[in-house]
Amino acid sequence: MMNYASFGFSRNSMRAVVALAFLLVPVVASQPQPQQKHSILNFFAIGDWGGVGSIPGAEFFIGVHQREVADGMNKVAMDQRPEFVVALGDNFYLKGISGQQAFQRVEKTFENVYNGAGLARVPWYVIAGNHDHYGNVTEQIHYTYYSRRKSKTEEGFHHRWEFPSLYHKRTITRGHLSVDLILIDTVDLVESAFLLEPNATAKSESLWDTWVRSPLGFTTEKEPPTTKQWQWLQKSLSDSTADYILVGGHYPVFSQGMHGPTKELVQHLKPLLEEYGAHYLSGHDHAMMHFQQNAPASGGVRYIVTGTGNACCSWRRNKYRQEHEKDYKDVPLLWHLFHQEKHHDNGLTITGGFVSIQATPLSMKVQYHAQDGSVLYRAEPIPPVPRRQQSLPDGPTSKSENMLTKDDKTKGNVAIE
Ligand SMILES: *[C@@H]1O[C@H](CO)[C@@H](O)[C@H](O)[C@H]1NC(C)=O
Ligand SMILES: *[C@@H]1O[C@H](CO)[C@@H](O)[C@H](O)[C@H]1NC(C)=O
Repeated sequence: MMNYASFGFSRNSMRAVVALAFLLVPVVASQPQPQQKHSILNFFAIGDWGGVGSIPGAEFFIGVHQREVADGMNKVAMDQRPEFVVALGDNFYLKGISGQQAFQRVEKTFENVYNGAGLARVPWYVIAGNHDHYGNVTEQIHYTYYSRRKSKTEEGFHHRWEFPSLYHKRTITRGHLSVDLILIDTVDLVESAFLLEPNATAKSESLWDTWVRSPLGFTTEKEPPTTKQWQWLQKSLSDSTADYILVGGHYPVFSQGMHGPTKELVQHLKPLLEEYGAHYLSGHDHAMMHFQQNAPASGGVRYIVTGTGNACCSWRRNKYRQEHEKDYKDVPLLWHLFHQEKHHDNGLTITGGFVSIQATPLSMKVQYHAQDGSVLYRAEPIPPVPRRQQSLPDGPTSKSENMLTKDDKTKGNVAIE
């Protein structure tokens, strides 16, 4: 497996380029730089935002703090003009959506909440969380096409819900800048991770059984797990030529919150992120965390946890800190906001929040916001992906190829999409 040490040369040359660019700025400042000006991309990320279920209250299907976070997002949006919002799952508490009322629930919990002037036309790129999987995720996917049709016939209605399939990706380019956003379904990945292990078929049936009989009862039509999405993810990463690669999923890789890290993702996703120089956005724990893998020259994978769209915050768990001490030496938690820390000296009690990201060809900046939009933490700027294709003509591979050999032979799952 590659690591950042092998990028030493290209990273140093990039730093030289960056330094040079700064030197040049005053010299060329008098001339218009339209390209540079347009090479900026602003967007938000939010997790665990999906209102409440059938709990009686003044506003059905809207979480108590969800509206506050939506107001704060709108405030920041008026200033930053985000081009999209990444929605990291748990879109509808407690059991997703299903049946006749499904689309009405999307209107109540989504359309009628994030509709301030700064957000009303901003698309959301959506994936499902575990709570969505308790309902029928297919309905959430279908709402994409319904909403698109509706926007063509209903005046004043803007199509914003982009959830075209269980996992999906897009490349966003602005001037000289390109960002790959790879959105994955971590429920499916976690449940299928065992297929990447030796002798997987022996285990598969019992695990499949547990999954279908989860206590809340799934209504989604599910097929037995396969490694199809793992393959898609690996191919999406290896195909990427973007300046930044962001993978978004519901379950965190690392967390010191209530749910802790996700074993399967530490095992199988972390190596892929490191190999391809990608960063990871997630929710699930209702807290804010920023992990940065130790690596030369401020590279290293960032793990951004923002599960506070509807609530802040869950407790920090010493258990997860201690059990994973070894991991956190390499991937330290640089900043966090847990329940213990939600009362600020300035009088603000934090009830929720979100993340804003600004990418330019030089760096990507991540800020964590409270429900009123105020900035709680500014992470160290992230440099672009080192261009591995140039330094390593043979290309990446051996590790991940090994990872995906097993069940494709035994279960006959063909190929990569
Ligand atoms: C896989 O199954 C074979 C046959 O039952 C067994 O010999 C082998 O030890 C197993 N491998 C692992 C890693 O469990
Ligand atoms: C899920 O929703 C889709 C689309 O409306 C529908 O075709 C399917 O029957 C639903 N599945 C279940 C288990 O309700």
